[in-house]
Amino acid sequence: MRPHIKVNDMGHLTIGGVDAVKLADELDTPLYVVDENRIRERYREFYSAFSSLYPKVEIKYAYKANTSLAVLHILRQEGAGADILSEGELYIARKKIGLEAENIIFTGNNKTDRELELALEEDVIINIDAVHELERLIGICEEKGKEAKISFRVNPSVSPMTHPHLATGLRKSKFGIHEEDVIKVYRRAKDSDYLRILGIHMHIGSQITSTQPYEEATSKLFDIVGKLKRVLEIDLEFVDLGGGLGIRYERDSPYITPTDLANALIPIIKRKIKEHSIEEPTLYLEPGRYIVGDSSILLCRVSTVKQTPYKKFIGVDAGFHILLRPVLYGAYHEAVIANKMNQEPVERVDIAGNVCESGDILGRDRRLPNVEAGDVVAFLDVGAYCIIMASQYNSRPRPAEVLVRDGKYELIRERESVEDLLVKQRVPRRLLE
Ligand code: LLP
Repeated sequence: MRPHIKVNDMGHLTIGGVDAVKLADELDTPLYVVDENRIRERYREFYSAFSSLYPKVEIKYAYKANTSLAVLHILRQEGAGADILSEGELYIARKKIGLEAENIIFTGNNKTDRELELALEEDVIINIDAVHELERLIGICEEKGKEAKISFRVNPSVSPMTHPHLATGLRKSKFGIHEEDVIKVYRRAKDSDYLRILGIHMHIGSQITSTQPYEEATSKLFDIVGKLKRVLEIDLEFVDLGGGLGIRYERDSPYITPTDLANALIPIIKRKIKEHSIEEPTLYLEPGRYIVGDSSILLCRVSTVKQTPYKKFIGVDAGFHILLRPVLYGAYHEAVIANKMNQEPVERVDIAGNVCESGDILGRDRRLPNVEAGDVVAFLDVGAYCIIMASQYNSRPRPAEVLVRDGKYELIRERESVEDLLVKQRVPRRLLE
């Protein structure tokens, strides 16, 4: 299995040395469990893959993947900066985690004036996504009399060969500024007294399992960097290659490692730096999924086993409100029975969520041992884009979250109560009569 996930002599799943069945018994289900050491391991693996080949590398962890505060502090301790996209993420990065402004890049699309103002106030790097946004930012800077540190997100028009919802650098994607407009926007920025141009950015998509699209996009991006030098005499301090490195949700699916990616990209980058006679920029990388994705599991309990004339369903106390990826993207999350790890699979079943919708199937046609009510199902690889995309749909409180390390556990998020579902609501008095 994964290095941090094992089976103990009771035939129970363990994570970070902690018995998952014990966690389910003591803390109740559904429960997210995060392995601290695994996050550290993946971060270090990613960072050293690039920094061993290139002298100036900075990781801006993509907050959107998982903003549990404990997770963010772990990554701060490891030295990660932040790729953020909203007022909330800005608040978390600056005020809760205490990152320095220069370690933060703000890359939202459709940023509001308020977001631009806050980003300017906090002095983080503003990664501009549209010509219109550039003009609005210049207006705001003029009004405040303050200089902004900026970069532009470029859309390199390449296919990352991933799920359509996860492709962001296609010709027709909503993201970024196209090559045709790049010189225009950098010229405009250079002519403004209020903008300090620091870099250039791309992010071509997510869950990418081949180096080829990265190679194509990186090469295009560095040709643009060369053109900026030639035409506008702009030297960029950083080039940001975005995130997107996929993980192995399925054992036999294709994958690449950070080392594969660094081995493919760094020679291209070095060649392009020479070819265009540009200064060596700092390389920014924005991994999210790779760093946190396989660190976590979701524990839920079987409440109902239903055999229809056509199919067998294992009904659990979790649904797409707390694990959305299977329903939204047809994503696969491996499921195991945490208290029956040594039992052989005997049948194929669907694992059904408890949301009142037909689409709420968390696992289809899974080979599992004989499953009974009370068994604990563990969904694996739920560290990225899972708890962060949880909702309270069907008026179900969001789950608790626990951090494990070296055989011990600590609660890092209390389970919501039903009262928590209602705290922000107000009922006009006349409706209570
Ligand atoms: N940088 C930018 C500008 C991004 O938009 C993203 C992800 C990343 C970095 C990090 O990408 P990663 O290394 O995590 O692939 N909810 C989807 C994934 C959406 C990704 C959005 N952008 C999912 O559950 O698969």
